[in-house]
Amino acid sequence: MQIISVKDYQALSLQAARLIGAQVRLNPDTVLGLATGSTPVGTYKELIRMCAEEDLDFSNVTTVNLDEYYGLAPDHEQSYRYFMNQNLFDHINIDKEFTYVPDGLSKDLEASCADYDDLIEFLGGTDIQLLGIGHDGHIGFNEPDDVFTAGTHLVDLTPDTIEANARFFKSADEVPHQAITMGMKGIMSASTILILASGKAKASIIRKMVEGPVDPQVPASILQLHPDVVLIADEDALSELMAL
Ligand code: PGA
Repeated sequence: MQIISVKDYQALSLQAARLIGAQVRLNPDTVLGLATGSTPVGTYKELIRMCAEEDLDFSNVTTVNLDEYYGLAPDHEQSYRYFMNQNLFDHINIDKEFTYVPDGLSKDLEASCADYDDLIEFLGGTDIQLLGIGHDGHIGFNEPDDVFTAGTHLVDLTPDTIEANARFFKSADEVPHQAITMGMKGIMSASTILILASGKAKASIIRKMVEGPVDPQVPASILQLHPDVVLIADEDALSELMAL
């Protein structure tokens, strides 16, 4: 794992956007795996600026998102489809037909999860998969568990995740208790994985991800098995690493 230590969130966002921007310039047909949450918002802002001011061209880019709340419609303000439109897709020259987010309203979950995995396979995996990390170590919504789950699947969100995400809703009662998430096979099929972490609150889980054993109770620890992972993190998020 390559670790890029930066001063703060602003620097993290610039670095991540530069890496993604370089990939898109070198390969205009890039397949990007994208993430929601607070952490990638600054990266998306910088990509929007690069599209407007530096002719970064997304017209041939395909995107595949990690997850979606189960039960939320695409136009629900807290859905991840809505988040992606608001924070990125509405502000760049991407063809939205080629932006994929799991279907939160699927009536046939088994079929739609299998379709999502087929889509990722058809695309040949993502070129870059962007990830945040939950305080409990989740990536996408792959929560701590006894096993790593390979395929796209429905998950019960942990109380920790529901509490962490309540800040985006009017109250914790409104946070859906389930979500559809890309599984570990989809995530690990990326050529490069770019994981971002900012702030002291992530320091302990970053230490477990990087220096702890590979353990499904720390889902992000599986990244130790991927040959090309770049962790961009600020000094606070890296503050508990022994090896730095
Ligand atoms: P955050 O969430 O970026 O809002 O901290 C990360 C995650 O839950 O994956």
